[in-house]
Amino acid sequence: MERNCREATMNGINVEKPNKYFDGKDKKDFLYHFGFGVDTIDIPAVFGDTKFVCTGGSPGRFKLYAEWFAKEAKIPCSENLSRSDRFVIYKTGPVCWINHGMGTPSLSIMLVESFKLMHHAGVKSPTFIRLGTSGGVGVPPGTVVVSTGAMNAELGDTYVQIIAGKRIERPTQLDSTLREALCAVGKEKNIPVETGKTMCADDFYEGQMRLDGYFCDYEEADKFNFLKKLNALGVRNIEMESTCFASFTCRAGFPSAIVCVTLLNRMDGDQVQIAKEQYIEYEERPFRLVTAYIRQQTGI
Ligand code: URA
Repeated sequence: MERNCREATMNGINVEKPNKYFDGKDKKDFLYHFGFGVDTIDIPAVFGDTKFVCTGGSPGRFKLYAEWFAKEAKIPCSENLSRSDRFVIYKTGPVCWINHGMGTPSLSIMLVESFKLMHHAGVKSPTFIRLGTSGGVGVPPGTVVVSTGAMNAELGDTYVQIIAGKRIERPTQLDSTLREALCAVGKEKNIPVETGKTMCADDFYEGQMRLDGYFCDYEEADKFNFLKKLNALGVRNIEMESTCFASFTCRAGFPSAIVCVTLLNRMDGDQVQIAKEQYIEYEERPFRLVTAYIRQQTGI
């Protein structure tokens, strides 16, 4: 099914409405993995002005991103608003910074609770941006890949969910208008940006054809053939969250983008072995790009 998320949002076409059961009569919805609910905090007062939800794997990195953003925009950074140890949530003006852990199962929980959070807060169309790290496929380390779409581990452009024993496939489109705007900002800021497909693997080692895992029942040549095949299909990086992220945000009708820096070129190796300073500089690149875009859009 083809659809443009931005148009869907504006026109309400194909956008799935929030589930009627969680918003039912007693209205006591509790966001278990965030550790708070509608009757434990005033969600509209705290989150009602949200315009952007920025997300990515590591809790430490997202605390840092929130602090950097606050410093740059000269606005306060909240304390960690999460009341559970699963995820951290920081807020800087209209931007929420929430980590999602590793892989689609963890991300899916964070997204569902974030969508419910936005719903309870009365936020109509938040923009979701994933800022992550990835393995490059034929691009040099440090490249920031702004994804054109997400591909699953079977190389299909869908997110596969198993529900009630049945396989459900959903589209993994991302917002082209948002992508183009982000790329333009990257160019302006002299950040090395590429666009291309992102492959979402189900694990870090065998699922990404690494040779440095504990198990490996394929040959080095198989790895290179696979990476070359991915590259020929337009894939520029591999991570572990893009299909779920693209599919959930599209289904909800929220504009979204995936902006991941590559930590290595998988054509040259498997081990992520970069000096700490270099790692920090790479981690800063998606942040610099996304922050410049958000500041341009919001005027803060
Ligand atoms: N994240 C991944 O999933 N793969 C990499 O190679 C690097 C980061």
